Amino acid sequence: MFLDDQHLRVGGVDFHCHYQWNNDDEVEPEGFLPVAKSRDQVERYLRLQKSMPAEVIVEIGIYRGGSTALLHALFQPRRLVAIELASEPAAALSAYIHRHGLDEVIRPHYGINQADRDGVAAIMAAELAGRPVDLVIDDASHLLHETRAAFETLFPRLRPGGLYVIEDWNADHLVADHFDTILADSSTPDHDALAHTLGLAATMQPVPDPRLVRLPLELVLARARKGDVIREVTVMENWVVIQRGEQPIDPREFRLSDLVKDHFANLRAIG
Ligand SMILES: C[S@@+](CC[C@H](N)C(=O)[O-])C[C@H]1O[C@@H](n2cnc3c(N)ncnc32)[C@H](O)[C@@H]1O
Repeated sequence: MFLDDQHLRVGGVDFHCHYQWNNDDEVEPEGFLPVAKSRDQVERYLRLQKSMPAEVIVEIGIYRGGSTALLHALFQPRRLVAIELASEPAAALSAYIHRHGLDEVIRPHYGINQADRDGVAAIMAAELAGRPVDLVIDDASHLLHETRAAFETLFPRLRPGGLYVIEDWNADHLVADHFDTILADSSTPDHDALAHTLGLAATMQPVPDPRLVRLPLELVLARARKGDVIREVTVMENWVVIQRGEQPIDPREFRLSDLVKDHFANLRAIG
């Protein structure tokens, strides 16, 4: 399927896979759908598709639209609901939907914040009519509160055994590691500028605020009780995957904090 490290072809559709760390200016070749993921990241999707069919998929974070089209091309779902904060439709996705006559299958919603519980719930009610979801992919804000809110809204809508994937859960952590490496060696070219910038940032924001990397810690504590609601939590490169247990959950009331009993103050100890 990969013709080279960036060129993926699925069912006659060409995708340009390129992880955009900082809105760099690499442009996809004419006729290719842009996917903001590296080959390694996309290969995880290829493996997932082989291990699990998914008829109903929700994706959060459309960006330029290639990942939504790729989910469709790979899984051939009956319904793919996608949510995006930006209000401008992704041209590449609109063209894909139009070209393949998929208006009733791929349902993008723009101008929606993943943290808007009522807004997201209303979209699910309209688009799914109670049908359970097989797979949720969250590749949107990568912010703790927004990601947790979307999880609490959508996880109850998964079928038992369904999967909830949170991408790039440790991006902030990797950046902090990188900063630590630079700060530890005053001879590194970026040392002084970074120390200055972080010094300013510390003045403006003296209390370190928790980042998305906290969510998997909460999920592990939630799983520590029993596997009725959360059956499994798998942490890996780029992905945290949470599998839904059998227990019915009321989506209006589901809060992760109700499952997290930090008996030994581990979250607080970690800080
Ligand atoms: C990493 S990009 C998505 C990349 C895309 N899934 C792909 O692989 O090609 C993140 C997207 O999430 C959107 N986003 C950011 N914050 C959001 C939020 N709070 N709610 C919904 N979408 C959000 C951004 O506008 C951006 O388009």
